Amino acid sequence: MTATVEHAVPFFAPDLFEADRDVLLELLYEVGTCPDQKFILGGRTACFEEALRAETRAADAVACSSGTSALTLILAAMGIGPGDEVVVPAFGCAPLASTVLASGARPVFADIDPVRLTMDPAGAEALVTERTRALMPAHMFSVMADMPRLRDVADRAGLRLVEDSALAQGGALEGRPAGLWGDAGVHSFVQVKVFGMPGEGGVVLTDDTELGERVRMLRNHGQDGRNRFLHHHVGHNSRFDEVMAAFQLHRMAGLPARVARRTEICSYYSERLGDLADAGITAPGVGGDGRFPYVYTLLCEDRDGLRAHLEAEGITTHVYYPRILPDQPAFAPHASPDGHWPQAREAARLNISLPLYPHLTDAQVERVADNVRAFARRRTG
Ligand SMILES: Cc1ncc(COP(=O)(O)O)c(C=O)c1O
Repeated sequence: MTATVEHAVPFFAPDLFEADRDVLLELLYEVGTCPDQKFILGGRTACFEEALRAETRAADAVACSSGTSALTLILAAMGIGPGDEVVVPAFGCAPLASTVLASGARPVFADIDPVRLTMDPAGAEALVTERTRALMPAHMFSVMADMPRLRDVADRAGLRLVEDSALAQGGALEGRPAGLWGDAGVHSFVQVKVFGMPGEGGVVLTDDTELGERVRMLRNHGQDGRNRFLHHHVGHNSRFDEVMAAFQLHRMAGLPARVARRTEICSYYSERLGDLADAGITAPGVGGDGRFPYVYTLLCEDRDGLRAHLEAEGITTHVYYPRILPDQPAFAPHASPDGHWPQAREAARLNISLPLYPHLTDAQVERVADNVRAFARRRTG
């Protein structure tokens, strides 16, 4: 029997910013009627950048138009282009490959670690050639990539390290926040992210102030912010919106509580679902260093069965990246014909994510876990 709508647990929250809707409208009015008529890259964006910089203790934070654009700006600021190679994970989101290709360089796909589901440092190192300029690992779902080892590989090979920490706001490894292990890192503020907002946006974080300055110019057509119509570099339009900056400044105070609630839900899922290996279900471990509560992902041998079981109970799940990057029509022509990505393929075949957002009730979270357990019992008889 299908669960009634009152019991439904959607994967994407239908009321993401409900508590702040009035504030959003007030801020829209305030920015819209402000005499300076500054809608992009104004004082609110500068304050938001400073708040992000202070939160992470980065040397610089440059707000821009999306997480994808943040990666693009970093690659451009590093001077990566035609003839260069960037090692990226084979399992992950399209921007890992598309931003490299857009720069004129070639993405080289590395397999992933089967537990973290992030780029395998040894596999990445084996792909380094004289053309390699950078490694670009991504944190995945709720687990940071092995940044100490990737940093070591990059340092020994003289490569730049671009940290795709688009998902990982609130994460830290060995005390260092996600985004600051690389020469530069990014966060995305697209709505479903940990610090999502009702619009597009991202930020570049870096301790390299020269790189930060270059990114700042590149986001606004290569101008330096002082001399209008003087273009030092071939830049982009990747400017940040003032209404969104004001809204994020307002929402920042509540971020730790939302991260804490997400973390609590992740821990609960892991406590309830950590012993289902006999049923072919693997859950991430409880808490630990290098974790962040973005998406809660199981690996399940009978993924379609689990999805159908939960759907019948009104619980919607999500499958990320069912096709690995080197198999995508857009990227396959650029992938090595000799490439082997067995762990990436397994992750693409098995991953299934459960609902995770701060305003899920305890009862909803319990019901999700109960139903995963019920499915597992059915499989083990
Ligand atoms: C790991 C990762 N990197 C980069 C991005 C791109 O961020 P945006 O959607 O803000 O462009 C995403 C988007 O979801 C992502 O998941």
